[in-house]
Amino acid sequence: MSLSPVASTVRIPKVLHPVDNEHLKLLLLENISQGAVKAFEAQGFHVDHSTKAMSEDELVEKIGSYHAIGIRSKTRITERVIKAATKLLVIGCFCIGTNQVDLITAAKAGIPVFNSPFSNSRSVAELVISEVIALSRQYFQRAFEMRQGIWNKQSKGCWEVRGKTLGIVGYGHIGSQLSVLAEALGMRVLFCDVISIMPLGSARQVDTMEALLNESDFVTLHVPELPETMNMISTEQLSAMKKGAYLLNNARGKVVDIPALIEALQSGHLAGCAIDVYPAEPGSNGAPFDDQLNSWSSTLRSLPNVILTPHIGGSTEEAQRMIGEEVSAALTRYLTYGSTVGSVNFPEVDLRPITAEQQGIRLCHVHNNIPGVLRQVNEILSPYNVEKQYSDSKGDTAYLMADIADVSPTDVNRLRELISQTSANILTRLLV
Ligand SMILES: NC(=O)c1ccc[n+]([C@@H]2O[C@H](COP(=O)([O-])OP(=O)(O)OC[C@H]3O[C@@H](n4cnc5c(N)ncnc54)[C@H](O)[C@@H]3O)[C@@H](O)[C@H]2O)c1
Repeated sequence: MSLSPVASTVRIPKVLHPVDNEHLKLLLLENISQGAVKAFEAQGFHVDHSTKAMSEDELVEKIGSYHAIGIRSKTRITERVIKAATKLLVIGCFCIGTNQVDLITAAKAGIPVFNSPFSNSRSVAELVISEVIALSRQYFQRAFEMRQGIWNKQSKGCWEVRGKTLGIVGYGHIGSQLSVLAEALGMRVLFCDVISIMPLGSARQVDTMEALLNESDFVTLHVPELPETMNMISTEQLSAMKKGAYLLNNARGKVVDIPALIEALQSGHLAGCAIDVYPAEPGSNGAPFDDQLNSWSSTLRSLPNVILTPHIGGSTEEAQRMIGEEVSAALTRYLTYGSTVGSVNFPEVDLRPITAEQQGIRLCHVHNNIPGVLRQVNEILSPYNVEKQYSDSKGDTAYLMADIADVSPTDVNRLRELISQTSANILTRLLV
């Protein structure tokens, strides 16, 4: 096949390989998508895949032979596991959260951690749209009655969403997606955020949350869990909402004061709510959602026009596939090019790719964040032509990437030895 003139002029990035070229072994646990497995295998990595999580003891026994591990939320990577992980270069959390990993110990050991915080934004936005319509038409309630054998056809208190106002609190990845979908349904969109954000479509940013609460028929929350967002919707904010309005929380469980919400529903001030996240959530499927978990559970469950879902906002096949693609791409970029962009515990460092025509090696040097390191390393590099260099630090860990031209094969090993022996060295990799 002949390349078109355009394609033949494109500068193709070179795939780099670690100089000590031991075949890289990856351990993927908790049934990470087969798409991710294929992506890794296409890079030539050896992949061991398991559908299950591993206990700390199992990990300590096995992790020593792996260069990368992929987990979801059930496998815990503790300090003990990291100490046993003598070859481990990188950790991929194929999920949103990363609190199952001891991030600080990992960073100190020179191991960046990657996750996929935004792959499920669209899935959440679509769920919210479905809830807006379900609340407005009370059809969740009607469907529930039908299952109990009750025919209850009525139009009182049921509305179209066209022309109604949706108030979005937090206009980030999910809030902004939602804005576009809601306008397509003919809704008017208001939003508030702690930062000033360019509105999409005809949406309008309001100055205060109070203004948004006063004007919205539906209020939907899309803020992170922070000290300042805890119970951000309580009695005062619920009273500021329009009579007959609806509240939706698909963000984090502690953002809404649920006993105050129950009062607003019981008094008839709110016409309904949809809740996907809770202050305390069961640890596994099938476990009860009862008053032992949250003291108000049975009261909330008994109220009409209340949609309760088990934290499914981001749970779709598409989101899982995108998480697989995003995290496997981040791990591959780190292993083959050294890029830490998107890492949650590491300084974010990247260099533009070495192209196929260029002769050179890439130094990836993780070190303690103390004075004098760059001077030491640059002294070692001084006989060579350093074409590009970039370094950054985060907490106690710093990371330097440098592309060095015309290094002979014997010099490569010498360079790595000299840099590995510097006093602040955590990890030195050379990619060719
Ligand atoms: N239900 C689910 O399954 C599910 C899935 C994914 C995400 N989430 C949750 O949804 C929330 C939003 O996610 P995202 O990806 O859109 O996050 P994001 O970081 O992209 O956006 C959050 C927005 O909230 C704004 N914000 C922060 N504090 C605020 C405040 N006090 N008042 C107003 N705005 C404030 C930020 O400036 C930002 O624009 C997060 O809490 C996340 O954990 C839930």
